[in-house]
Amino acid sequence: MLFAGMPFNTTKDKYHIMNQDFLQLLRKYNTDSEQKPLSERLNEPNRFENFSKSAGNLLLDFSRTGLDQLALAQLLKLAAHSGVEESRDRLFQGVAVNFTEQRPALHMAMRSDEVLNNLATETASRVAANKDKMIGFAAAFAAGHLPGETGQPVKHIIHIGIGGSVLGPRLLIEALGKTSSPQVHFLSSVDAHFRDGLLADLDPAETVVIVATKSFTTGETLLHARRVMQWMRLELGRDAAEHRLFAISGNMAAVEAFGVRQANTLYLPDWVGGRYSIWSAVSLAAAAVMGEGAFSEFLQGAADMDRHFQTAELADNLPVLMALTGIWHRNICGYAAQAVIPYDYRLRSVPAYLQQLVMESNGKSIDRDGNPVSYATSAVLFGEPGTDAQHSLFQMFHQGTDIVPLDFIGVIHPDHEDAEAHAVLLANMLAQATALATGTAGLQNPDELDIHRQMPGGRPSEIILMDALTPSSLGQLLALYEHKVFVESVIWNINPFDQFGVELGKVLATSIQPALQGNPEAVPESYGLNAILNYIKSH
Ligand code: F6P
Repeated sequence: MLFAGMPFNTTKDKYHIMNQDFLQLLRKYNTDSEQKPLSERLNEPNRFENFSKSAGNLLLDFSRTGLDQLALAQLLKLAAHSGVEESRDRLFQGVAVNFTEQRPALHMAMRSDEVLNNLATETASRVAANKDKMIGFAAAFAAGHLPGETGQPVKHIIHIGIGGSVLGPRLLIEALGKTSSPQVHFLSSVDAHFRDGLLADLDPAETVVIVATKSFTTGETLLHARRVMQWMRLELGRDAAEHRLFAISGNMAAVEAFGVRQANTLYLPDWVGGRYSIWSAVSLAAAAVMGEGAFSEFLQGAADMDRHFQTAELADNLPVLMALTGIWHRNICGYAAQAVIPYDYRLRSVPAYLQQLVMESNGKSIDRDGNPVSYATSAVLFGEPGTDAQHSLFQMFHQGTDIVPLDFIGVIHPDHEDAEAHAVLLANMLAQATALATGTAGLQNPDELDIHRQMPGGRPSEIILMDALTPSSLGQLLALYEHKVFVESVIWNINPFDQFGVELGKVLATSIQPALQGNPEAVPESYGLNAILNYIKSH
C-alpha cells in the first residue's frame, strides 16, 4: 500500500525532512491516484459520517474536500510525526514556545482555571485580581456610571485600539451585545474623519475612553488617545477627564506617563499576544454590553475547546482535522487563498478577526531553526458574510482560474422568529457548498449548456455549524481557529506567536511623516519616495 514503508523518525531535526517526504508522497498520491470528482465523493457511502466530527456545540463537515481515507490517514500520521501532541502539551504547560521573544503563549490561562493554576501563584493571583477589576468596571459601565461614582454617568464608551486591541471586542459586541447602553464606538485606523464626526456628536461628561494597547507604543492608538483626551480635558478639565480615562496595557510605565490613573488601569500580561487578547481585559467594553454572565460563558466555551484539543485523539480532534484540511489545500493542492463566509450577520467581523489571527500568526517564511522554508505557509484569508458575498466574491469562486477553498459558518437556530428568512439563509449556504463541489456537471447534462454557463465544480469547502450563536459556541469557534492555526504552525515548523513583519513599516512611517509635514530631508534618498513626495507637495 502507498506510504506503508514510511520511516518513523523521532529526532527533532529530522521531523522536517520527514515532513517534506510526507508532503511529497501526498502530492504524488493526489496526482497519481484515481482522483474522483467531488460530486462522486459526496455520494460515497457514509461520506458525511467519515468526514465530519463534532465537539461541544460545533460540527465540522469536511466531506466536500478531495480527502479520502488514505490521504486523511497519512495526514494524521504527518501530524503525529510532526510532534503536534508534544507541541500542544508544551504550549499548555507554559514553555516559552514564542522562542524569538522568549515567552510562553498562555492566552488560554485567561479563560481556563486549569491553565491559570499551572502558573506561579503570584502571577495567577494577579491575573485573577485583574479579571475581577475588569468585571467590576464592566458592571459599573453597564449600570450607566463610572466605577464607584454613581453620580458620574456613562452613556458612551470610546474604545481606542488597533489590530488585536480592537478586533475582538468589536466582534463580540456585534455577535453578542445585548444592550445598546452604553453605546460603544471604536477608533482604530488613524484617519481623523470618523473621529472628528464622532466627537462632535458626543458629550464628554457622559463618555468614557478606553485606550487598549498592549505595547502602549502603537502610533495610531496614541494619536487618537491624545486627541480624544484633549477634547475631553477642554470640556471637563484635567481632573474630571482623567477619571473618564481607562487603559488596558502591558506597559505600565507608559500608561502612567500618559496620565492614566492606576485605579483605572487593567494589566495585559506579555504572554497574551495581541491577536489572542479577546479573552482578556481588552474586551472590557464588550463585557459591559454582553453582561458578566455572558462574558464568563464565552470564556468557558473556549476553555471547553481547549480541553477537547488537549484530550481528543488526533483523528477526532477538530482543530487538528481543520489544520490538516488546511495543509492539504495549501501544501498538496497548492491553493493560495482561503475564504471564510459566515452565514449570520452577527458574525460579519469573523473574517476580519481571522485575517489577523491566521495571517499575522502563520505568515512566516523562516522556520524555527532559522532556515527559509521550502514550502508554502499561510494562505491569504479573506471573506464577508453570506449572502452578500454571493453577489461579489462567488463568481470567481465558481468560475475563476484559481481555486479558493471556503469555510462556511452557519447557525442552526437563529435568535429571531422569521423561520422563512432563516431557511432561505441556510439554503443559500448549502446551495453554494453544493454548487462549488459538483458544478453544473453534477446537476444537469453539461452538453445542454452553453460553455459560458458551465461550472467545473471540484471546488472544496468545509461547513462549520453551530447549534446556536451563544457566548459559549462563539468561544468554542474562536478557540477552534486558534488551535487550528497552532497545529499548522507546528507542521510548518514556524513560530506563530511573533509578528516582526509588522514592525518595519511602523518604523518607516515615523520617518516619512515629517516629510509630509514640510521637512523633505527627513526621508533618505534610498527610500525612492522623493518623486511621490514632491507630487503630494505640489498638489
Ligand atoms: O499589527 C501588529 C500588532 O502588533 C498586533 O499584533 C497588535 O494586535 C496590534 O499591533 C496592536 O498592538 P498594541 O496592542 O500594542 O497597540
